[in-house]
Amino acid sequence: MPTLTTLAQRHNLFLIEDACEAIGATLSTPGQPAKPIGSFAHIAVFAFYPNKQTTTGEGGMIVTRDPDLAARMRSLRNQGRTASGHWLQHTELGYNYRLSDIACTLGIGQMHRLPEILARRETIARLYHHHLASETSLTLPPLDIPNLRISWFVYVVRLTADFTPARRDQIIHTLEQASIGCGRYFAPIHLQRAYAEFPPHIPPPHHRIRSLAHHRPPLLQSHQRIPAPHRLRHPQAGHTAYTLNDHP
Ligand SMILES: Cc1ncc(COP(=O)(O)O)c(C=O)c1O
Repeated sequence: MPTLTTLAQRHNLFLIEDACEAIGATLSTPGQPAKPIGSFAHIAVFAFYPNKQTTTGEGGMIVTRDPDLAARMRSLRNQGRTASGHWLQHTELGYNYRLSDIACTLGIGQMHRLPEILARRETIARLYHHHLASETSLTLPPLDIPNLRISWFVYVVRLTADFTPARRDQIIHTLEQASIGCGRYFAPIHLQRAYAEFPPHIPPPHHRIRSLAHHRPPLLQSHQRIPAPHRLRHPQAGHTAYTLNDHP
């Protein structure tokens, strides 16, 4: 993030931080105290869908230090009304993106529990690591990264390059048969059909990544995520790891 903020400043760019999977994570830079992820850019977004560390059932949150941006987003969220304006007056066309009071109550309750939730998720990530450490066909996520406090969302394991997509899918199927939630992780955004028309115009660095994905599909398309919900119990984490270890 510090590199991106420097780059954005140099080129006068507007930076939006996607912190949807990172609530509670912190990053320290040399000589500076740790800063929360979501506090580096002009705007940061967080998601509260039920699979996230904290949830409001649906929806999310945008944060900014810029009072003008905050006022504009509040207005757009509220069908174009201004904060001081009358309920029946719309100063611009907006949306109904309001989070209901009921959803907010749930979210506030979750915020109070955030330290406990993050600690529990970290315990589960460490349990997975402990059980899977000797599995040579998996690359595990790093448990500790210097200067970073990780907020565990999902635990992504990467199959080594000799796995075919068919074999990967077979493993996912085996886990699902054992009632273990598991799935492929996101393909890079430029491989999504919604962006299919853009690649010819994408500048060189993205092209390089795309060709890497095409020539070595297992590298970028063999990530799979296994659950790290904070309600998972030790034996369940062991069962997941055992099933994954025992893949066909
Ligand atoms: C990194 C990231 N950004 C954005 C989103 C979108 O969040 P939502 O559609 O739940 O608001 C997600 C959802 O999983 C995500 O993981």
